[in-house]
Amino acid sequence: MKQKLDEILKDGLMALENADDLKALDEIRVEIFGKAGKLTAVLRGMKDVAPEQRKEVGAMANAVREQLEKALSEKLCQIENAQLLAEMEKEKIDITQPSKGTKKGALHPLTKFNNKFIDICVEMGFTVIQTPEVETDYYNFEALNVPKNHPSRDMQDSFYITDSIVMRTHTSPSQVRAMETMKPPFKMVCPGRVYRNDDDSSHSPIFNQFEALVIDENVSLKDFMGMIKEMLVRLYGKDVKMRVRPAFFPFTEPSIEIDATCQMCGGKGCSLCKGTGFSEVFGGGIVNPKILEMSGIDSSKYGGFAFGPGIDRSVMITNKIPNIKYLFRNDLRFLKQMR
Ligand code: DAH
Repeated sequence: MKQKLDEILKDGLMALENADDLKALDEIRVEIFGKAGKLTAVLRGMKDVAPEQRKEVGAMANAVREQLEKALSEKLCQIENAQLLAEMEKEKIDITQPSKGTKKGALHPLTKFNNKFIDICVEMGFTVIQTPEVETDYYNFEALNVPKNHPSRDMQDSFYITDSIVMRTHTSPSQVRAMETMKPPFKMVCPGRVYRNDDDSSHSPIFNQFEALVIDENVSLKDFMGMIKEMLVRLYGKDVKMRVRPAFFPFTEPSIEIDATCQMCGGKGCSLCKGTGFSEVFGGGIVNPKILEMSGIDSSKYGGFAFGPGIDRSVMITNKIPNIKYLFRNDLRFLKQMR
């Protein structure tokens, strides 16, 4: 038995020494340790060994098994390493070769404008929030004091999902959601997509707005205009001029419309600004106290101002884009020019 074990060990080590791939290694493993393997047979035969020899033979059999297992795993490591090295050698990259050149992407002009405006607002202490694009009639109209018979409530102008759910027609519902959840005083902006049933070269069914709301004690129209002027300066440079006209929105009282130096002609007068040198940038005003109360804000203590610029028009003007549809088509020929 001892001689047999000796033989198995010697033969096994020799075979392992000569094996040079995983297949050969596996064959050796089966030959020694497999169900019908040589060592398996010896171990199985232990019961027939004379009792006084059993301990010694048993110890030897274990030692042989351990040695062979060790040699097998070492050889496995060796072969795998060799294979890996060979593969790496094959896949070697010549880093001195000239590159094929990479295609550089760029931010969409709307994203660029959005980022710039968001940065300005954040610098001025605004919190940026996002609210749903699919809104209830309550948030989109009712809570903003838009009367039942208002044209924007008409099926022709708004995309209704059901009788009481609508694709938001403006970002103003975010004002109500902010007032319901944020503790005054606060300043918030909500950039986002809005939807209206409108479609021509300067209107798209999807477009983008920014909503801004400031709630605090003792706010006045003067604070509002001061803040707007500062924003316009940061957005368009220190020479920008601002003009204010009276307007009407159901959710602000008084309401104003703000014009700034025409970005097409720089104020000289052109067809876009009809020779005035100004173009409209946004509407806003002092938040109607009725809106504050409906949203749970004490209007005897707090007041607010709000404004809501549409951004697509500004992006079109500053990039000389003739049709709003270009902003949404994702046509690479167009986007490449916007780098
Ligand atoms: N939501 C208005 C619109 O889509 C724009 C607007 C006007 C927003 C006045 C305001 C505001 O916050 O105070 O035409």
